[in-house]
Amino acid sequence: MKRFLKLTEDGSHTLYLPEMDEHFHSIHGAIQESMHVFIANGLHRCSKSEINILEVGFGTGLNALLSLLHGQGKTIRYFSLEKYPLTEAEYSQLNYAQNDDDETQSLFLQLHQCEWEKPVQVAPGFELTKLQADLSTVDLSALPLFDLVYFDAFAPDKQPDLWTDAIFNKISAQCQTGGIITTYCAKGVIRRSLQKNGFLMQRLPGPPGKRQMLMGEKA
Ligand SMILES: C[S@@+](CC[C@H](N)C(=O)[O-])C[C@H]1O[C@@H](n2cnc3c(N)ncnc32)[C@H](O)[C@@H]1O
Repeated sequence: MKRFLKLTEDGSHTLYLPEMDEHFHSIHGAIQESMHVFIANGLHRCSKSEINILEVGFGTGLNALLSLLHGQGKTIRYFSLEKYPLTEAEYSQLNYAQNDDDETQSLFLQLHQCEWEKPVQVAPGFELTKLQADLSTVDLSALPLFDLVYFDAFAPDKQPDLWTDAIFNKISAQCQTGGIITTYCAKGVIRRSLQKNGFLMQRLPGPPGKRQMLMGEKA
């Protein structure tokens, strides 16, 4: 599968997948988008000190890195599903730690290089479990209940099979009451499907370049 490195408008990288004509992040700014959708409207809305996170699509590891950097003071167990992991040649070019110290780059590489299918303590208070799995078929019931879900699949018009009632039902069943789901997508059909499957949904202002996004709490 060919994936090409691209610069987004905030200077951070994303990947472009020609066969799907889809980017991994907003072309208006990858870091800006992840900070807004997943950190400001996800992690920072969680008041608990111990948080279990499920991410759909580990991809570049950007959401995991930002959660590690901005979740300090909390104990995070981060579970991430990915069907098509990046190669070393791909992740080693990404500039997410470029303007930071070597320590951040070293943490970023550890997120990618640590073993799959088992929990790894990447930093104090941050445990990562990467699962090479397909969201459509994975059994989530073996995992702990989630406090926060980063729903970061490719867009519904590109991967409609990942934005179904059945999938939202499976995720909802594995969320704590009060657990949060957040996604960059703002489509009405997705809001209604999440609502039907147990989440009280809100439309929120989107990141730069996008009018709206969705966030919900498990009822
Ligand atoms: C929009 S990208 C976002 C990735 C990541 N969160 C990031 O910031 O780079 C969607 C990700 O979902 C992964 N993916 C695609 N189909 C999948 C599936 N059926 N199950 C799990 N992951 C899948 C892709 O390979 C890609 O890494």
